[in-house]
Amino acid sequence: MTPSNFLSVASEAAMVAGTLIREHWQKPKTVDYKGAIDLVTSVDRESERLIVEVLRNYFPNHSILAEEETDLGGTEGNHRWIIDPLDGTTNFAHSYPQFSVSIALEYNGEVILGLVYDPLRDECFKAVKGEGASLNGAPVRVSGVKELDKALLATGFPYDQREAADFYLSFFKAFMTRSQGIRRNGSAALDLCYLACGRIDGFWEMKLRPWDTAAGALIIEEAGGKLSDLAGNKFSIWGNETLASNGAIHDELVRTATAVTQSQHID
Ligand code: IPD
Ligand code: CA
Ligand code: CA
Repeated sequence: MTPSNFLSVASEAAMVAGTLIREHWQKPKTVDYKGAIDLVTSVDRESERLIVEVLRNYFPNHSILAEEETDLGGTEGNHRWIIDPLDGTTNFAHSYPQFSVSIALEYNGEVILGLVYDPLRDECFKAVKGEGASLNGAPVRVSGVKELDKALLATGFPYDQREAADFYLSFFKAFMTRSQGIRRNGSAALDLCYLACGRIDGFWEMKLRPWDTAAGALIIEEAGGKLSDLAGNKFSIWGNETLASNGAIHDELVRTATAVTQSQHID
């Protein structure tokens, strides 16, 4: 089985899920609450069910971890799919047109394949480890912006934003006063892909989960970008902090974030 075989199955699963999401995005939603502002809709769950069904059909022995309810151990043990069936649920619940499906495949703990699909724009970002990143089949690269002063950034706020607003806003203020602008689009997986194809130059967010970042992080790396935590240490999809950039402005982003972190220890 080659990576391109895995990729075509991941694409099939993403298209099935994307069709469902597209059919429902402007209709009334059935919403449950996982937390005060952490929503899940029946479409999140149905999307996950459809993706898992496709993957299990082709790879019955693979493990699968998905956001809503799936944590299947496989008998084979080496391959694990990591899935966000609908990234941008708050947008989706409000019929705000920015959300995606994110599917990644780990082999022995390393992400080897990532796919993020935007069903409304029909944009499919893909990467295979060592083989580059693409958007609808055409290779993508990160931007060539060299200074934070000229950069467009994106971010997101975790679901404890009401409790920890000042903490998150301190980073927002630091980046706001040093960049050309900040977008808060509402789908972290798509934000990472926008970085990979040069639509933004930097991104940060706290408390993202593996299904938010697994596919997008590989897509960034394969597009020539860089990821770390806010202090510049090695990035992990299991970690608490995501800082991503085109590479050229990475040190400046780390310095800015580190200054904020240090000022909080002094206060
Ligand atoms: C969320 C989105 C959002 C980010 C949140 C995520 P969900 O994922 O990616 O952009 O700011 O931190 O949890 O809940 O819509 O799958
Ligand atoms: Ca998500
Ligand atoms: Ca989700």
